[in-house]
Amino acid sequence: MANTLLRLVALAATALATTIAEINGAKFLSPFNGQTVSNVSGIITAKGPDGLWLRSTTPDRDERTSESVYVFGRTFGANLTVGDAIVVGGRITEFRSNRDYLYLTELDRPVLEKRISSGNNVDARVIGKDTRDPPTEQYSSLDGGDVFAVPNNKSLVSVANPTLEPRKYGLDFWESLSGELVTVRKPVALTKPNNFGDTWVAGNWKLTGKNDRDGLTMTDKDANPEAILIGSPLDGTKNPTTTKMGDDVEDITGVVSYAFGFYRILPTTAYKVTKSQKPVLPKPTKLESSGKCDGITVGAYNVENLAASSSHHPALAAHIVDYLKSPDIIFVQEVQDDNGVTNDAVVSANLTLTTLANAIRTAGGPQYAFTDVVPVDDQDGGAPGGNIRTAYLYKPSLIRLYKPNPGGSLDANEVLNGPTLKYNPGRIDPTNEAWTASRKPLVAQWEVISSKGSSKKADIFFTVNVHFGSKGGSSSLHGDARPPVNGGVDDRITQSVLTANFVKDILTKDKNARVITAGDFNEVSGPSALGIRNTLIEQFTFVEPLEQYVKISGLKDADAAAKIEELERYTYLFDMNAQQLDHMFVSDALAKKVKYEHVHVNTWPEFAAQVSDHDPSVARLDVCA
Ligand SMILES: *[C@@H]1O[C@H](CO)[C@@H](O)[C@H](O)[C@H]1NC(C)=O
Ligand SMILES: *[C@@H]1O[C@H](CO)[C@@H](O)[C@H](O)[C@H]1NC(C)=O
Ligand SMILES: *[C@@H]1O[C@H](CO)[C@@H](O)[C@H](O)[C@H]1NC(C)=O
Ligand SMILES: *[C@@H]1O[C@H](CO)[C@@H](O)[C@H](O)[C@H]1NC(C)=O
Repeated sequence: MANTLLRLVALAATALATTIAEINGAKFLSPFNGQTVSNVSGIITAKGPDGLWLRSTTPDRDERTSESVYVFGRTFGANLTVGDAIVVGGRITEFRSNRDYLYLTELDRPVLEKRISSGNNVDARVIGKDTRDPPTEQYSSLDGGDVFAVPNNKSLVSVANPTLEPRKYGLDFWESLSGELVTVRKPVALTKPNNFGDTWVAGNWKLTGKNDRDGLTMTDKDANPEAILIGSPLDGTKNPTTTKMGDDVEDITGVVSYAFGFYRILPTTAYKVTKSQKPVLPKPTKLESSGKCDGITVGAYNVENLAASSSHHPALAAHIVDYLKSPDIIFVQEVQDDNGVTNDAVVSANLTLTTLANAIRTAGGPQYAFTDVVPVDDQDGGAPGGNIRTAYLYKPSLIRLYKPNPGGSLDANEVLNGPTLKYNPGRIDPTNEAWTASRKPLVAQWEVISSKGSSKKADIFFTVNVHFGSKGGSSSLHGDARPPVNGGVDDRITQSVLTANFVKDILTKDKNARVITAGDFNEVSGPSALGIRNTLIEQFTFVEPLEQYVKISGLKDADAAAKIEELERYTYLFDMNAQQLDHMFVSDALAKKVKYEHVHVNTWPEFAAQVSDHDPSVARLDVCA
């Protein structure tokens, strides 16, 4: 039987006898792509629903060439078991399900040439022990040292097909183990599972960027390629969905694969959490209002598509009252109109904001007033029909709009001598095309209601509440485009410049003006990998839009000014990284005394318990004249 098979195959094949190392080669794409091979020998290390994994019995000594390969074929493995040594032929294929992904090298249309023996020992290779440690900073030689460099998508892995450098680059490292059966020792979950139950982990190898919660925070030129995704188990079991950042996980054994835009380990069976992070929620902020101009508290919270009918009003209110200690003014983003995603002409959010204010009151908080400027219907992006916008909640007993004169949706605000605002509140350059399908920043000027006599100068401050354009269209950090596409970055650069110039106008008229800008900038920043700690000028923004913002406006990054621990600067989890999309920048008059905290009420709990996808932040500032 085996002889007949061998002969048939020998006739049909192009008679290329090859090792698995030769098939994989030292690059991303196989030199045998599209060719038929025969006489490939290996031991079966794992079986999955659609194929099996084969490890070479004739390995080379080149760390770049993987010694294992995926054999794709639904019925091929029916009579084969893990531990069988076989000789196989077939076609070498590079497969991807989407043109923005990397390719996985496979042997498909497999034909069994011979079963040599059974019951061979199969040991998983322990990452960091039997292999090197994964690189900790860079993903690809094609990134020019920075996954956020602009312009991005300057080259494609699938075209450049660089020679692997597994000691330097994360993608190269994981590619050099493609198909390999590996063990991750002492894994720690880095983020929550995605919609498919896949979870990012790191094992007991060298890590950079570890925060106090045991997640990995992204820093300048260090986007944590040492993390690996744990995908669907090979035996059909399901990974837990309640995993949290920092949870300890039992050792994981599985095969290295690539699918849906990421290298991943497909575990032989579902992973188990052995120790879950506690307490689930952080401590409430220590920053409380002094009730006077010398200690105004400012909250900022992306409330994630809040409509009047949203069920998360009470939970948001509890965060605001119990964890943010009811700040004097709150910059909110993603407030939807009064009938949410119903796609009609309604743009007012009065009911949505009243509902939130009432929920805060019910939760034991103060009575907030609010102000916003309605967008033009369907022009500001976000969920269709929702008309998300930024808005302010404020304590009318303590602060009020200074000479209120609300602008309309299309009125461009201006800085007048004083300085005062032409519209209070009003939007920045709302007809500028940089804001297409995005939120226009909301500028306001405030006065602290004090018991001072009328002879004294009023305590005035300015605020700019931003929610810059979305990152839609971004490509995966493990994707084909290098550096990866940072969707919407060009818009955000222009948005930054427009907003920064507006702030500059205020500060040109009064260099001592007290200006607070905050919100969802949709760009990460954080400590520089090369940053010098504790220097006087700690500006740690590292993505182009934020660099421009700080440079033009002259504002100071509140994280740096408040000396927040570098790796604790995060408000959002995305893929493997804890990262900061929500920022506050303040003028010199405020920078010296600013106190600031990110309150991790949403990044810490499990997915089902988070109230928004962003953490809120709170600051305390001296705005006295
Ligand atoms: C198959 O490979 C083995 C070594 O792995 C070699 O001895 C043998 O000659 C090869 N057979 C053919 C037909 O190439
Ligand atoms: C498995 O073995 C059975 C019985 O020998 C045979 O009928 C069947 O064709 C084999 N399946 C494959 C996929 O080789
Ligand atoms: C919303 O409230 C503002 C301020 O109280 C008011 O001027 C405006 O007319 C209200 N809009 C609607 C649609 O009720
Ligand atoms: C990257 O650029 C190539 C053209 O070189 C294009 O085909 C591809 O769609 C781009 N990728 C993304 C994710 O935009």
